[in-house]
Amino acid sequence: MSEASGKKNIIITGATSGIGRALAARLDDDAHHLVLIGRSQDKLDALAGQLRASTTLIALDLAEVEQIPAIAPQLPGRIDGFVHAAGVESVEPIKLVSYAKFDAIMRLHVYAFVELLKLIEKSKKRSDDYLTSVVALSSIASDNGGVGQTMYAASKAALEAAVRVLTKELAAKRIRINAVKPGIVDTDMTRRWMRKIGVADIADVQAMQLNGIAEPSEIAELIAFLLSNGARHIAGTQIKIDGGGPAGKVF
Ligand SMILES: NC(=O)c1ccc[n+]([C@@H]2O[C@H](COP(=O)([O-])OP(=O)(O)OC[C@H]3O[C@@H](n4cnc5c(N)ncnc54)[C@H](OP(=O)(O)O)[C@@H]3O)[C@@H](O)[C@H]2O)c1
Repeated sequence: MSEASGKKNIIITGATSGIGRALAARLDDDAHHLVLIGRSQDKLDALAGQLRASTTLIALDLAEVEQIPAIAPQLPGRIDGFVHAAGVESVEPIKLVSYAKFDAIMRLHVYAFVELLKLIEKSKKRSDDYLTSVVALSSIASDNGGVGQTMYAASKAALEAAVRVLTKELAAKRIRINAVKPGIVDTDMTRRWMRKIGVADIADVQAMQLNGIAEPSEIAELIAFLLSNGARHIAGTQIKIDGGGPAGKVF
């Protein structure tokens, strides 16, 4: 298996789109074995067909957190990195906020992250000397969510709190955890968000952020650094990558 071949085994959720897909492309070489998790087997197959790196493909709706323990046998024995990029946008005024919708977002953004981390922690012995780097995709919305982002912003804040706590709890197993907080990134999620807030022109979105909006590859570059041993003293942080933040009072 890949651990014998000396490759780094990296788990990426949300690998079929946006930031997750850009990260798979960034790590697409013979030094990595990529465990790609997404909802659609077809999309995973198409992605793997474009990659040079060896892959394990897992099609799973991560909101169904009860299913996560069952994927343990598909994971490599040694996990060097885990990036939780799966996510959904949400723009709902308070009258449309419901426990069921809130729970669905929390399941995907927070509970699935913790369940996957439980599998990684369980697979690692205290005597294992390799480092595992974990990156959770949060958002600047956790500090500064805009109108309609109650559920999205609260779930990302909860995710960051989990990162801070679990950084302390899992350090003894050499598991290092950080959160990355992008501003606006040009992905399918942002295109859906534009439709929901009634903005048609991407130029208008470019103007919302001081230095324009980011490409997914620019977020992937930061994540790749955090995964590397060059970042081994960076742990328990929340790193903003938002070009300096909103240009106006959108958020
Ligand atoms: N785009 C931004 O401006 C922005 C800003 C700040 C933070 N973020 C965060 O960055 C992360 C990636 O966002 P993105 O912009 O790359 O979004 P995206 O292009 O919409 O991609 C989201 C990914 O998550 C997967 N996913 C969604 N629901 C899932 C579920 N229930 N189970 C398993 N996988 C699921 C999607 O799979 P399918 O292909 O099957 O849909 C897709 O691969 C998210 O956590 C997001 O909150 C994004």
